[in-house]
Amino acid sequence: MPENTLTITDNRTGQTYTVPIEDGAIRAMALRQIKTDAEDFGLMTYDPAFMNTASCRSSITYIDGDKGILRYRGYPIEVLAERCTFLEVAFLLLFGELPTQAELKNWTHEITYHTMLHESTKKFMEGFRYDAHPMAMFVSTVAALSGIYPESKQVHDANNRLLQIKRLIGKVPSISAMAYRHNMGFPYVYPDNDLSYAENFMNMLWKMVEPKYVANPVLARALDILFILHADHEQNCGTNAMRSVASSHADPYLSTAAAAAALAGPLHGGANEEVLKMLDEIGTKDNVPAYIKKVKEGHTKLMGFGHRVYKNYDPRAKIIKWTAEQVFEVTGRNPKLDVALELERIALEDEYFVKRKLYPNVDFYSGIMYQAMGFKPAMFTVLFAIPRTVGWLSQWQELINDPEQKIARPRQIYTGYGKREFVPMEKRTAPAPVAAR
Ligand code: CMC
Repeated sequence: MPENTLTITDNRTGQTYTVPIEDGAIRAMALRQIKTDAEDFGLMTYDPAFMNTASCRSSITYIDGDKGILRYRGYPIEVLAERCTFLEVAFLLLFGELPTQAELKNWTHEITYHTMLHESTKKFMEGFRYDAHPMAMFVSTVAALSGIYPESKQVHDANNRLLQIKRLIGKVPSISAMAYRHNMGFPYVYPDNDLSYAENFMNMLWKMVEPKYVANPVLARALDILFILHADHEQNCGTNAMRSVASSHADPYLSTAAAAAALAGPLHGGANEEVLKMLDEIGTKDNVPAYIKKVKEGHTKLMGFGHRVYKNYDPRAKIIKWTAEQVFEVTGRNPKLDVALELERIALEDEYFVKRKLYPNVDFYSGIMYQAMGFKPAMFTVLFAIPRTVGWLSQWQELINDPEQKIARPRQIYTGYGKREFVPMEKRTAPAPVAAR
């Protein structure tokens, strides 16, 4: 049996070091002992964008990007999407096991109990311009909850944490729906405790003058499935932001707002909105080859394609494609689907995409489905943020309970000037180079 160690020879000094390998990784701190002399700081690793650095141990979500596998707490995403409700999956992610019937009933009741927003939150949201992007409203309002629940700062109190978790999961659909209604200039609709998580959200979005809004069960189930698919995805950009901010022991509202801010970017959760813009720009199937050419020439990216971890078809994209078909049976087919299918067909055959292992990701088909359901593109990333709140909070709990975690604080390789003589104002002549301004 080979020893689980790595032997490193420092060619600068000729010295050899033996470093333990644990779980296919070496500890970066094990390299610090490698020095040229006593004054030397010691060897560091340089890994911009965390291409090959594990920042934590986690037992929540497993991804095998080469095989296209995604599991929550060991359960394949396909099974969870088919057999569970979103709140059942939320329980699984947060507590590690699927709930019993009684646990699920109690959990559903508790989340439902926390869906109301304080009236001051409503007033806060009314302060936004009528056309403010719903993600700007979402991020700011989640952060503002920190001012309403100051006790959430007690992040080491497990009961207190659980209360904030329930509040956040309960309130994010209410915040999202208010953001939408604000954009539309419609009066806000308060939560209805008789409804399921997805139905209540749909009620808050779309209820008009009818005494009781009745959600289409196919659409409500489709939304619930999409929530399951988006609930967690291990150490993605948003989750890394959550962990990084929460590592300073900032409260969960501020940390969740930071995670949502990261999600809003077009390379991350903002990509679903960008896919729709791209499909609009392409217009018809005939224009697909010209667009692919533009992508290959480096003028633009194929939004909804590619992933840092998946080098195979994103398993979530497959389920979304299937779910979208169910939705189209109710809503009618979104004509953009033809353009998307043609894009996928050509891209999957083209050497540029094949060589780089670029496949459709979760954002490629979700927007087409959401649009058919009646959502505006600006809402798409909010629809991602609602379920991902569960993942962020699961990761937050894990972080707080992990004795190895400390405040996140990367090192840098300094590339600036050495010590310089100060130049008094009257002696400064040349303008500063543009890059330095
Ligand atoms: N279209 C065209 N080329 C691409 C694309 C794309 N969508 N994605 C990657 N590439 C190329 C990239 O130009 C590079 O080529 P080369 O080796 O010639 O320089 C190669 O593929 C490797 O790409 P990378 O930028 O090093 O990969 P990354 O892991 O840093 O980026 C990504 C991953 C998701 C940011 C990127 O694939 C991308 O920008 N995709 C489009 C945006 C998108 O759909 N984002 C949603 C991601 S999934 C959901 C989520 O995370 O929220």
